[in-house]
Amino acid sequence: MVEENKKEFIDTYNKYIKREGSKELLEFLKKTDFFIAPASSQFHSAFEGGLCEHSLKVFKRFLFAVKQEFGEDYIKKNIETIAICGLLHDICKVDTFKLDTKNKKVDGNWVQVPYYTVEDSLPYGHGEKSVYILSGYIRLTREEAMIINWHMGGFDARVKGGAYGLSDAYYKFPLAVIFHTCDMLATYLDEERKE
Ligand SMILES: [Fe+2]
Ligand SMILES: [Fe+2]
Repeated sequence: MVEENKKEFIDTYNKYIKREGSKELLEFLKKTDFFIAPASSQFHSAFEGGLCEHSLKVFKRFLFAVKQEFGEDYIKKNIETIAICGLLHDICKVDTFKLDTKNKKVDGNWVQVPYYTVEDSLPYGHGEKSVYILSGYIRLTREEAMIINWHMGGFDARVKGGAYGLSDAYYKFPLAVIFHTCDMLATYLDEERKE
């Protein structure tokens, strides 16, 4: 599944993302653990390749939701934005999870089981970190930066700390709130939670 998802990701990326710097960005991704990393350490898609799989699911959800809301013509004009946000919004998670083992009692016997720990090599936040990494390779539009920056919605640590910007951003950039719901739907409806 890891190799199939990697191929689908790269094919989708090459089909829709063409702007200056995008080739270099893809080469960078291939050098990181993006294609084998989990989507989280213990919550959604906490398995090898989970991050790539999650990104593809969010891309598909976003494509569908934008089509529902704005129609086919809008999709044709904005497909690169949809692909960039869907495929790359969680690029902040590269080189963040490390595989370790712990002891667990299974049927009365202690066995060693693998688990992921968090070792963030670039602690810069979440949505803002993705915008920062992407901006090193490609120039994001204002709308793309807003979508990616605020994709965690009310779960964003800055919002939890009292930051006001989120709802203003969602009023000004409707795609950002659509995107946030797609990230949630992919996480809670399309993916498995680790027990
Ligand atoms: Fe995220
Ligand atoms: Fe996500």
